[in-house]
Amino acid sequence: MGFRRCWSVELYRLFSAGMRRPEAGPEEGHEKGCEPRLGGPKIAAMARRIYLETFGCQMNELDSELVSGQLVALGYTFTPDRALADVILYNTCSVREHAEQKVWSRLGELKERKLLEPGLVVGVLGCLAERDGVALINRMPVVDILVGPGELDKLPGLLENAVKTNESLAADAALLPSPPDQPYVTSARQVALQGNASRRSATLAAAGDSLELLDLSRSMSPMVGEGVRRSAYVRITRGCNKFCTYCVVPFTRGAEVHRPPDHIIEECKRLAGSGVIEVTLLGQTVNHYRFEHGAAVMLDGIMQPQKGRSYAGGGGAGLAGVHRRDPFTGANVTTFADLLRRIHDEVPAIKRLRFVTSYPRDFGDDVLEVIRDHPRICRYLHVPAQSGSNRLLKLMNRGYEVGEYLEFLDRARAFLDTSERPLEISGDFIVGFPTETDEDFEATVALIHKAQYKNSFIFKYSPRPGTVAIDKFADDVPEGVKRSRNNRLLAMQTAISQGRGERYVGRELEVFVEGYSTRERKKRAAERGACATGSGGGGVGGGLMALTVNGKLTQGGLAGLEMAGLERAGHEIAGHEHGGGEVSGHEVRVEVEVSEKASPQGPRAQFSARTDTDMIVMFDAEAGEELVGSLRRVIVTSANSLTLGAELV
Ligand code: 5AD
Ligand code: SF4
Repeated sequence: MGFRRCWSVELYRLFSAGMRRPEAGPEEGHEKGCEPRLGGPKIAAMARRIYLETFGCQMNELDSELVSGQLVALGYTFTPDRALADVILYNTCSVREHAEQKVWSRLGELKERKLLEPGLVVGVLGCLAERDGVALINRMPVVDILVGPGELDKLPGLLENAVKTNESLAADAALLPSPPDQPYVTSARQVALQGNASRRSATLAAAGDSLELLDLSRSMSPMVGEGVRRSAYVRITRGCNKFCTYCVVPFTRGAEVHRPPDHIIEECKRLAGSGVIEVTLLGQTVNHYRFEHGAAVMLDGIMQPQKGRSYAGGGGAGLAGVHRRDPFTGANVTTFADLLRRIHDEVPAIKRLRFVTSYPRDFGDDVLEVIRDHPRICRYLHVPAQSGSNRLLKLMNRGYEVGEYLEFLDRARAFLDTSERPLEISGDFIVGFPTETDEDFEATVALIHKAQYKNSFIFKYSPRPGTVAIDKFADDVPEGVKRSRNNRLLAMQTAISQGRGERYVGRELEVFVEGYSTRERKKRAAERGACATGSGGGGVGGGLMALTVNGKLTQGGLAGLEMAGLERAGHEIAGHEHGGGEVSGHEVRVEVEVSEKASPQGPRAQFSARTDTDMIVMFDAEAGEELVGSLRRVIVTSANSLTLGAELV
């Protein structure tokens, strides 16, 4: 057993025993390191300052939070300033090219610095690392560490090795007579990738999934600079078995595995105990969740996550109501519906329970009934359709036809959309998928019209290395056509969103206050003389720490997400189906327009909040932290295509 495994187990025991992480401030963290508490190696001695930037979906944000928690517990500190860091980590996304390009340019910028600072450690985590493997280091020799999303629990050990290796390289370099003009520093080459290991066994049990320890060892204590946290993500499934032909996720995040329900509930309880009142369950296809207790496997006294049995729950028009609930339901099985019910009933301190993302075909009535009958489960579904053309859905390997998708929307609304409590639905679409004709595109237009989404995340097809589509289909829709189709869908969705928003005007609603609005934070940052992309201004936001998401420094949590959303403008990036982001450039663009009209005076500030249907609500109130992270009642006074204006009751 390697030391990284010991660390994960130690950290799990430490945190599950309720011990707080060391209160490591930026300057004092090394001295206050946790070596005595862990009883392990002299971890504090190797403490370094880390800059961590996160790209992509909510799953990546959660991963960053979890690895950060581990690293802080091991004595590392974090800095929001890359120039001050001894260790630079990028948690990457490869779902679309745009996100990937940013990482390449960040790595390119580090080339010169590494020549001057051979001790600098650079790590690439996440989907890009998994997809490209060591070829990434060959292309970018500044990279010392590669860790795929399925191996993140190994990061502390790899980081320690890389720090030591680079220290000795730096010492060697210091002995050289004069600075060489060629790079003499080679990568420390610390690599942990899953390869296809997660798919090797077809058995139900996923024994030996050490990644579970990463979630289990989650720290609940506030991180550096953090107020009390009120909103958190909790992973319920990892990976994906759907293999949509355009999508890289099944290759980078591996086989679908489901976490033991007791682990999930325990995590929710611990979060609630630390002040969290809103939990968002994450998974690529959350409604596939199922844990078969008879097949559970224990390893080192810890129940292991379980591989997903191929799923045929939910059914649709084609099945004429046969599979309206998970067919494996029973006393010895926890279905997604059971899991929602259990969290709702066993953790009453969680006032809002949300989940993303749902796969449209497998959504049974059992889940809809649980949402209907449990008031603290939010009335919001994110169910990507991707296309309105049956021909393209087939080429995409989506596994359903438009009729089934529409049947699901009708069913969901029949169960959940009432005049007292509306249901809102959002979707994802890809335009310009190979061979998409005008006729296919018009079918998508028709679907968006029928579906009446709250909002849609619309992407131009981006051929991704490693996917089925890139090998099988030429990217034959010209860029100009993709762009005009993209714009047409956006314009259409904007009008629909506006109409949906107007239905809320005059209503009194409960909202969860996420923090200052984006514009308010920018204004405050500017007033403090900080750069406009600086920290989630004013210290409000219940965030996690100085994490940087898509190039924007965030204090984490949803307030931070909103900030990160700025970078996603242009409708190119959102991470939805990957347990992904709730923020689209679309939303943020509109929000900024609103903000400019409503400049707060004196001590008042503009806050951003969400309804339980996921509508964004802006209101002005006295500046300060008291509102943030609380549930408040507002009256909606105005609406535009993606935000509601409101007043506090
Ligand atoms: N090109 C464009 N969009 C993609 N998505 C996933 N892969 C691609 C791709 N290769 C979109 C899908 C998915 C969302 C997270 O990203 O719409 O639901
Ligand atoms: Fe899985 Fe979603 Fe990717 Fe399809 S689009 S392969 S369901 S993550």
